[in-house]
Amino acid sequence: MITSSFVVSLFGIGLALGQTVPNVTVATVSQAFMSSGIVPDVLSSFNPTAILNVVFLDQATNSSVDVTPGMNLTMEQTLMEPQFFLSANDTSLDQQTYVLVIVDPDAPTPQNATEAQFRHMLAGDLHVNGSTSSGLGAPLTNTSAALTEFVNPTPPAGSDPHR
Ligand SMILES: *[C@@H]1O[C@H](CO)[C@@H](O)[C@H](O)[C@H]1NC(C)=O
Ligand SMILES: *[C@@H]1O[C@H](CO)[C@@H](O)[C@H](O)[C@H]1NC(C)=O
Ligand SMILES: *[C@@H]1O[C@H](CO)[C@@H](O)[C@H](O)[C@H]1NC(C)=O
Ligand SMILES: *[C@@H]1O[C@H](CO)[C@@H](O)[C@H](O)[C@H]1NC(C)=O
Ligand SMILES: *[C@@H]1O[C@H](CO)[C@@H](O)[C@H](O)[C@H]1NC(C)=O
Ligand SMILES: *[C@@H]1O[C@H](CO)[C@@H](O)[C@H](O)[C@H]1NC(C)=O
Ligand SMILES: *[C@@H]1O[C@H](CO)[C@@H](O)[C@H](O)[C@H]1NC(C)=O
Repeated sequence: MITSSFVVSLFGIGLALGQTVPNVTVATVSQAFMSSGIVPDVLSSFNPTAILNVVFLDQATNSSVDVTPGMNLTMEQTLMEPQFFLSANDTSLDQQTYVLVIVDPDAPTPQNATEAQFRHMLAGDLHVNGSTSSGLGAPLTNTSAALTEFVNPTPPAGSDPHR
């Protein structure tokens, strides 16, 4: 889950962008947050104005994984901190400073989430490097150390998929 000074969309442990990831729009992300119960379990409401594109690098296969709403990701795919890209049609968003939060509302398992919400990352002072209206969007780059560095997911055996 990710939030910002402007609310941005995200996906499950991950997330996505304007045109480059097929069929992902603020509407489909918003709908996914509702249908998964992230609203209201994590956020009381969610009205995204931009899309956060999350790209993991799977080191085992040396391939990138573009996260889309509702997709299942493996522990191997989520081992490394992903790259984040902000995609928007509002150029004023290029000038903002962002806070990024990734939480797991289903820790240790969705069946019995006694350790929810688990904080996987908390970073501030993020800025857009380039234009959010091109391609995958603009990379979000940090200008200070994260308060919580990325912690990769390690669900116990037998866990259902986490949001
Ligand atoms: C995008 O949506 C169209 C229409 O619903 C569908 O035919 C197509 O398979 C979708 N593409 C992907 C990559 O999901
Ligand atoms: C991984 O992929 C990148 C880009 O496709 C390539 O430049 C690099 O050499 C590859 N690394 C390995 C270890 O295969
Ligand atoms: C993700 O995994 C669950 C459980 O294995 C399955 O029910 C669901 O259909 C999968 N979702 C997708 C998009 O593959
Ligand atoms: C930007 O506008 C295009 C064209 O209307 C649309 O397809 C896309 O989803 C929009 N991107 C965002 C992040 O709202
Ligand atoms: C849920 O986890 C807690 C803490 O580990 C445990 O005490 C409790 O019995 C579990 N509940 C169920 C229904 O498994
Ligand atoms: C912004 O992007 C440029 C071009 O890709 C790169 O040279 C520069 O290091 C980036 N700046 C930051 C703060 O990451
Ligand atoms: C940005 O984050 C990386 C990865 O956590 C860290 O190594 C680096 O020091 C950070 N940059 C600054 C300017 O703090």
